[in-house]
Amino acid sequence: MKNEIDGELLNIPEHVAIIMDGNGRWAKKRFLPRNMGHKAGAKVVEQICEDAHNLGIKYLTVYAFSTENWKRSVEEVTGIMNLLRNYLKDCIERASKNNMRVRIIGDKTALDEDIVVSIDELEKKTAGYNGLNFTIALNYGGRDEIRRAVTKLVSDGCKGVISPDDIDERLIGSYLDTWDMPDPDLLIRTSGELRLSNYLIWQLAYTEFYFTDTLWPDFDIEELKNAVRYYNGRDRRYGGVK
Ligand code: FPP
Repeated sequence: MKNEIDGELLNIPEHVAIIMDGNGRWAKKRFLPRNMGHKAGAKVVEQICEDAHNLGIKYLTVYAFSTENWKRSVEEVTGIMNLLRNYLKDCIERASKNNMRVRIIGDKTALDEDIVVSIDELEKKTAGYNGLNFTIALNYGGRDEIRRAVTKLVSDGCKGVISPDDIDERLIGSYLDTWDMPDPDLLIRTSGELRLSNYLIWQLAYTEFYFTDTLWPDFDIEELKNAVRYYNGRDRRYGGVK
């Protein structure tokens, strides 16, 4: 899809994935506790969902908590979980106003029971909305997602539901958490770090990467437009020749 941005007709990426990095450094620069950085970051998530939708982006997937983030202090992990707890509750109202479909990917088995209940409720209530498809990666790791997919695949193999000849890339994709989403066209990582950190490692095979030094709590519509402009400068060949 094309859309006019500041007088320029641009190709809009259908699916944008974001690694929201730099909350801790943003807080440190202000002599604030790290969790204040996450709080500011959560506010930015709300705004970026609206901005992404207005630009014509159909899918937005953000990395909120990785399978490795449990290594952080109890205080920080509790702070992020409480933020997410409140966010999931408030989100039902916001999603119905914005017609936004919300989904959570990751391993939910390690999450507190009340969070799992909120997720179920939010996913059910927003399932019919056809605005932005917003996905939150929570207790998510790309390798762990593949591990869970392989476990299910082998189990289906043992039951005779699938045979080795059935296994192609499409079938593997159908066992992943993102089974009903297109692969991301554009990945944005904030705060100057240049790595994937175990995010969507299967799905990002042909994605364009945009890195910015901006810390996540400072990320805004102008940054998002810059990322879309950068995406338009890329020549996507998917391994072929043009
Ligand atoms: C990375 O910054 C950020 C996280 C691990 C947490 C992201 C969480 C949020 C933005 C809040 C909740 C999200 C939603 C969807 C409401 P960092 O802490 O690693 O920053 P640093 O590298 O500067 O220390």
